[in-house]
Amino acid sequence: MSAVTVRVPAKVNLQLGVGPIRDDGYHDLVNVFHAVSLFDEVTAEPAERLAVEVRAAPHARVAIGGVPTGEDNLAARAARLVAARLGVETAVRLSIRKAIPVAGGMAGGSADAAAALVACARLWDDREEPVLTRDDLMELGGDLGSDVPFAVLGGTAVGVGRGERLTPALARGTFHWVFATADGGLSTPAVYGECDRLRLEAGEAAAWPAVSEALMTALATGDAKALGAALSNDLEPAALSLRPSLRRTLDTGREFGAIGALVSGSGPTCAFLAETDEDAAGLADALHSAGVAEQIVRAHGPVPGATLV
Ligand code: C5P
Repeated sequence: MSAVTVRVPAKVNLQLGVGPIRDDGYHDLVNVFHAVSLFDEVTAEPAERLAVEVRAAPHARVAIGGVPTGEDNLAARAARLVAARLGVETAVRLSIRKAIPVAGGMAGGSADAAAALVACARLWDDREEPVLTRDDLMELGGDLGSDVPFAVLGGTAVGVGRGERLTPALARGTFHWVFATADGGLSTPAVYGECDRLRLEAGEAAAWPAVSEALMTALATGDAKALGAALSNDLEPAALSLRPSLRRTLDTGREFGAIGALVSGSGPTCAFLAETDEDAAGLADALHSAGVAEQIVRAHGPVPGATLV
């Protein structure tokens, strides 16, 4: 094998229910993941030693300044895990082309790790029945980060535990999204920390989260309006507390006809649902003209997880 390229989607959380903090510092979640058509690409090719190179994808205005290129890049760690499991040297160069916002709440780093898992497994083992199955790669992904298994799986799925234990969800049809990215990212641990702080301040005990039945029905029937009404994110108050300007972005999207609006994951990207592709185009134009975001990106979901190209 000379080079393997894998395309991997971003995610938006349709429901992010955050439960109490656990002894290991993580929170128990109910996390309804939805993969959308905004893709990073990772190419793995043989090299003398492990190397990572990160660039913005052509035509994508992604600020890649904050992405580590050394040993702590999550994709590099993914390559090392696969090499260890297959008993080979980590002799690979990973070229990452980013279109997913960095530290944007769309799991871009996790996506790159998922792509690296799939690409390296293929590069080092191209038998028809490879040693590492897709399930094995998802399990390895769980050790790298809570969102990595979903980036391998794709589609729409419910995650519990840290979010890494997944069950695919029934979803009919295609949903049309508009994403408003922000200038500068938010740190995921900082947003979870702010969520805990706000709850403590309000004297609120974190309830054990449950999957929204209304959301699941909306997905299964392909009812965009009902889905828009059922979207929820327990991290949103924390993201708004750390980045108050997002409130105006969300309000603007609603004013311009979004049928659902929420902060994506830990933010600061805001996600807007539209009823049709045409509505999404109109909403994207309106948000662009209002100047409430760094960049406006349209996408649809669900789409498959990490896929060889
Ligand atoms: O798993 P991952 O490395 O992506 O998580 C990043 C951070 O997000 C964790 O260090 C933790 O602060 C927070 N987190 C959490 N509970 C989860 C998932 C993530 O508190 N279920």
